Amino acid sequence: MPAPSQGPARSRVLTGDTPTGRLHLGHYVGSLENRLALQEKHDCFFLLANMHAFTTRADKADDIRRDTIEIVKDWLAAGIDPAKSTIVLQTEVPAIAELTWFFAMLLPFNRVMRNPTLKTEIETKDLGDTYSFGFPMYAVGQCADILAFRPVFVPVGEDQVAHIEMCREVARRFDQVYCGVNPKTEDKDYARGGGVFPIPEALVGRIGRLVGVDGTNKMSKSLGNAIFLSDTPKEVQKKVGKIFTGRQSPTAPGDVNNALFQYVRAFIRDEARVRELEDRYTRGDNLGDGHVKQEVAEWINKLLEPMRARRAEFEKPGGDDAVIDIIRAGTKRANAV
Ligand code: TRP
Repeated sequence: MPAPSQGPARSRVLTGDTPTGRLHLGHYVGSLENRLALQEKHDCFFLLANMHAFTTRADKADDIRRDTIEIVKDWLAAGIDPAKSTIVLQTEVPAIAELTWFFAMLLPFNRVMRNPTLKTEIETKDLGDTYSFGFPMYAVGQCADILAFRPVFVPVGEDQVAHIEMCREVARRFDQVYCGVNPKTEDKDYARGGGVFPIPEALVGRIGRLVGVDGTNKMSKSLGNAIFLSDTPKEVQKKVGKIFTGRQSPTAPGDVNNALFQYVRAFIRDEARVRELEDRYTRGDNLGDGHVKQEVAEWINKLLEPMRARRAEFEKPGGDDAVIDIIRAGTKRANAV
């Protein structure tokens, strides 16, 4: 496979996913969509954070392997193109583990434990105080995932911004301590000021937090409120039909800040139509939830249709091997970088 096209002008992008299961629409609007645009203009690295999966499932290595292959199928289905972007397997890049060790010395322990994303995760995953030593360590590891590639941008969902902030702190500290960069240097000048690591920037997608079909919580596989990129048209229709609004009748004035209208704005890619629906809904102009849901489901299915077609290619016999070849080629290139 040819190496992704790369000119000196192409600045780098890195992001990753922890292989925990199939990707959903929240991933799409939060980050995947950005990645598709970025791969056209940047040298993109997409990391399979399988080591992170071990922080909560160390006894499930086989599942992690399977989830890793599945997530690549989701990426490829969504349009990540291995001829343009590099897909990287974390466990096969030793530099990441090495950097993690050194970065762990540059962050106060209490700073890591105060990381709000970690805290939320401990709560929502009900980890109590029995989580492994390695669990909070993944946040330090994530700094290494990123900085090993010296990217300028890190496209992520809103929940990851706290991690990127920590990564920026480590980069500054490393550059100051080991490269003599003046602490007064502006973030954009760290590389020019002699730093090994440029200070990367988080890029949050069009919709940083997509509500799930339960209408209240963030879309998430573990909460059972997700529409997956691999769902069938029927499943999509059924799930969209479940979005709870609490509205009584098509002639009652509706609230366009409800969950259903978050979907309208996220997936109906026709501005004029969105305005029209919002207007009629607000006025209670005989616009039923059922009708709006039908339209939302059609748009989502239109988005997912080409993904279903691309995915089908990898579901054929030999599909897993093709995916593994792509991972191998990308990881080889990543190790060179
Ligand atoms: N922690 C991220 C998540 O759960 C996945 C991830 C691992 C990541 N390494 C990364 C994201 C580096 C951005 C950059 O979604």
